Amino acid sequence: MRISIVAVMSSLVLLLLLLSALEGYCDLLRDSVHVTSAAARPNNELWCYKCLAEVPEDKCADLRHNNSDLIHKCHNDRRMCMVKRFSYTTSTENSTTALKMWALERNCTKHCEPGCIVIGERTKLYACTSCCSTSLCNYGSGAGKAIFFKNIVTVLILLSIAL
Ligand SMILES: *[C@@H]1O[C@H](CO)[C@@H](O)[C@H](O)[C@H]1NC(C)=O
Ligand SMILES: *[C@@H]1O[C@H](CO)[C@@H](O)[C@H](O)[C@H]1NC(C)=O
Ligand SMILES: *[C@@H]1O[C@H](CO)[C@@H](O)[C@H](O)[C@H]1NC(C)=O
Repeated sequence: MRISIVAVMSSLVLLLLLLSALEGYCDLLRDSVHVTSAAARPNNELWCYKCLAEVPEDKCADLRHNNSDLIHKCHNDRRMCMVKRFSYTTSTENSTTALKMWALERNCTKHCEPGCIVIGERTKLYACTSCCSTSLCNYGSGAGKAIFFKNIVTVLILLSIAL
């Protein structure tokens, strides 16, 4: 029994190492693509909303009003606008609360991976990112579809810590 737990643990650790190595490799590839194409690219003319909200009532979280003071020019390789929204739900055996926001960020960014990372059981934490590449396109609420592959990786990490 002990041996099989050790075997499971070490294969999990191996898998995690492999995944992070792959991720690093992809970053390398992406960076080299960025470097080689930077010279060929036109000037960065992108503008994005840039702000941080810690309550849902913040004007950053709710961009319906005139928010020209939150508009910023993007520089260098930061050629995408993004919205990252952190929220959570809590569940009892009978019910789940509505999604509550606890932070939201809008910014220019170089790398943007759309989707959600979800962790937890009773209390579920959601980190959702959405990406776009036209000026002032990052006005949305930042809700996104869950990427289940990411969930699996997160579960594996939690498992490997717990074991
Ligand atoms: C936007 O991104 C820059 C560079 O990564 C960072 O320094 C800055 O704090 C971010 N702004 C907000 C409002 O999160
Ligand atoms: C938004 O506010 C700016 C100044 O803060 C003003 O110049 C602009 O006309 C306003 N836009 C709208 C649509 O009200
Ligand atoms: C959940 O529902 C059951 C059956 O209706 C009830 O007995 C129980 O008290 C409820 N639990 C909570 C935490 O509300």
